Amino acid sequence: MQKSPGELRTKAEQSECSAGGELFRGDCLDVMRGLQDGACDLIYVDPPFWSGRRRVSAKSESGYDDRWPADIEEYLAFLEVRLREMHRLLSTRGSLYVHLDWRAVHYVKVMLDGVFGRDNFLNEIIWSYRTGGRSKQWFARKHDTILLYARNRGSHTFHVQRDGAFRTDGLKHDDEGRLYKTTTKGRIYFHADGPAMTDVWEVPFLSTVSLERTGYPTQKPMALLQRVIAASSDKGDVVGDFFCGSGTTLTVAADMRRRWVGCDAGEEAVAICQRRLGVEAVVWR
Ligand SMILES: C[S@@+](CC[C@H](N)C(=O)[O-])C[C@H]1O[C@@H](n2cnc3c(N)ncnc32)[C@H](O)[C@@H]1O
Repeated sequence: MQKSPGELRTKAEQSECSAGGELFRGDCLDVMRGLQDGACDLIYVDPPFWSGRRRVSAKSESGYDDRWPADIEEYLAFLEVRLREMHRLLSTRGSLYVHLDWRAVHYVKVMLDGVFGRDNFLNEIIWSYRTGGRSKQWFARKHDTILLYARNRGSHTFHVQRDGAFRTDGLKHDDEGRLYKTTTKGRIYFHADGPAMTDVWEVPFLSTVSLERTGYPTQKPMALLQRVIAASSDKGDVVGDFFCGSGTTLTVAADMRRRWVGCDAGEEAVAICQRRLGVEAVVWR
């Protein structure tokens, strides 16, 4: 039976824990097919990369296998059917963030243009980080790409985020300490919270000794998800992550008083999510 967003919210409201949500274990295609149209106001997914590598957990040998066949078509077919479900699950003000890397992002961009319509493309976000390892044959590959689409551009939720500081060269402070510059048209004031965030995000990679570390090999930093959730949702909205891994998205959503719905096919991932969120996993199939 399909669940409506109302049911998700009602269930969530009954739970005092972590603002409430639901965690599923299984293939996200089956899980998503059980949810009603418009069930999510924001979806972030970080699917397995087309990397040809097996990721193994620091704590166990299990991890998960993301060695995709040499044929990228098979990888894209796997993603497309799931991304179409995500499109169906978004509410009219919803947005989808798809986290990828250089290997497949270009193919997936073209695919998502087809699923969402090119007009609904909002951003190609570059997550730039510094980690070890440098090639002597090309520039070090130190970014991931996150594609952002609106379900309906113009109706979508978006809150400008601010980060960093303005270049103060030539600027002045008024009597109240506010930053401004003088132009022929008078004073132009600068926002007290700094410049609007651009589509290039400098967010540190999780260090090996970070207190956030769960031991899950592909865990993403909470700071990355804080930006996504703050920009594209409001308190009480439903945030979905259908390749949720260690549950970073769900944990941040709960901290920010959003409802959440998460799913992973892996036993270890779901066990970590349960610990992080303090909930029972629901086996869908
Ligand atoms: C890159 S990891 C996500 C990491 C996550 N963002 C985090 O911060 O921990 C991708 C996840 O997708 C899961 N996965 C792969 N195929 C799946 C499928 N068909 N349905 C649900 N989850 C799947 C894997 O088990 C893995 O945990």
